[in-house]
Parts: sequence; C-alpha cells; structure tokens
Amino acid sequence: MRVTVLSGAGMSAESGVPTFRDVETGLWAKVDPYEISSSDGWRRHPEKVWAWYLWRHYMMKSVAPNDGHRAVAAWHDGADVHVVTQNVDDLHERAGSRQVYHLHGSLFSFRCDRCGLAYHGALPAMPEPVDTVEPPMCACGGLIRPDVVWFGEQLPTAAWDRSVEAVSRADVAIVVGTSSIVYPAAGLPELALAEGIPVIEVNPEETPLSDRVTVSLRETSATALPGLLQRLPALLG
Ligand code: APR
Repeated sequence: MRVTVLSGAGMSAESGVPTFRDVETGLWAKVDPYEISSSDGWRRHPEKVWAWYLWRHYMMKSVAPNDGHRAVAAWHDGADVHVVTQNVDDLHERAGSRQVYHLHGSLFSFRCDRCGLAYHGALPAMPEPVDTVEPPMCACGGLIRPDVVWFGEQLPTAAWDRSVEAVSRADVAIVVGTSSIVYPAAGLPELALAEGIPVIEVNPEETPLSDRVTVSLRETSATALPGLLQRLPALLG
C-alpha cells in the first residue's frame, strides 16, 4: 500500500516544538511572521531573523521525535511511505522515516544570500534566545541565511515535484498537524481529493479542509497515528 503523509507543525507539537498559529503557544504569537520569515524582513534586519532561526535550530537539540513520528517511520514495514512535510525540523528523519520531502526547507542547512553557496561553517553558540545575532558573512560578501522558504519565496523544485508525485501515486493521503491555509502546500490534499484518493485528516481542531476530506479525526498526531494503518479499512469502509 502506498501511503503519503502531509505533515505540518502540529506533528512536532507533542515533542515540545511550538506550532505557528496555535493562539497561546504559537511562534507567531510572539513575533510578527512577516518581519521574521520574509525576504523583506531579512533585508531590513538580518540580525533579528538570523537570531530567530538560530534559536529554533538549537532548540531542536533539546527535543525528540514523538509517538507520531515513530508510527510513521514504522509504517515502512509493510507500506511504501512518503513524507511531505512543511516542517523545517528533522524529527521525521530522527524517528527513522526515509523519503522525506521538506517543502519549506530545513533548519539544518544554510546558504549565502548572494552567491547561494552552501555554508558548512561554525555557528555561533546560543545558550538562550536573544533578539539579535549578526549572521556570518560569505567570502563573496553576502550574508549566510537559513535554507528555509520565506513568505513569497519559491518552494524547492525537487521537493515540490517529488511531493506532487507522492500524492498522485498514493493509495491514501494522511494530512496531520497543519492548519491547511498556506499554499501551495495546502493544495496537495486537494490534489489527492481531485484524483479520487482518500484523504484522512488528523487534527484536534477543525481546519478549512475538515469538511472536504474523506475522514477527519479530532485527535492529536501522537494519539492517532500509532494505530491508524490498522484502522484504515474500517475508516475508509
Ligand atoms: N497533533 C496534531 N495537530 C496538532 C497538534 C497535535 N498534537 N497540536 C496542534 N495541532 C494542529 C493545530 O490545530 C493546527 O491546525 O496543528 C496545526 C498547526 O498549524 P500551523 O501552526 O499553522 O502550522 P502549519 O500548518 O505547519 O503552518 C504552515 O505556515 O508559517 C508557515 O512556513 C510555515 O510551514 C509553516 C506553514
């Protein structure tokens, strides 16, 4: 069976990683998303943007995959699993998932904002979150930026192409932990539905996708995913 998982920030919530839009705890509750995750914001104050991503990079060292990540990784025994994630963390990979496509980039790779050269140099330590850190400079004079997709930027072509293929070839798509409002990623479950592929949503809250999917489970990912494949026949009828 071919299973394609479409995950968002809620997938990592039970690992202690804040989501973006959960009202009280969301990352956007504390910062202005446009100021901190856009190329304009980077141009205006790179030291603020760099500090924010460096903090999120280091925070990943203190969290671990949860039962939801581990369940998806275990599905490889018996199913052909592809993971399409909007998340920039590495928790799917650390749980053992292979075939993971990062639509919005990764907190673990960096590049020059001028020549595009990958940066593998040392990163300044960050014992606790600070408001500003000067980003390193490339030999060409450009600034080193995180390899993540900011608002208004193009998604990585290879990740997007593999994701569309993984959705189109799936026997079932499982959308977990995303508010399903940021396109083009939010268009992937719609593509599956348009092709007659059953879509299961896992989210403790309702989303704009909830009344269109085949089944919408009001459950958290760490609760719903461990037994989900066994539930598929009953869920899909
Ligand atoms: N299990 C499953 N879902 C959860 C859990 C959980 N334990 N906790 C929260 N959620 C759900 C919330 O109900 C919400 O619908 O996860 C979703 C998180 O939504 P967002 O914070 O909007 O995150 P996401 O959908 O991944 O954001 C998409 O927006 O800011 C950009 O690039 C950023 O990739 C991000 C994109």
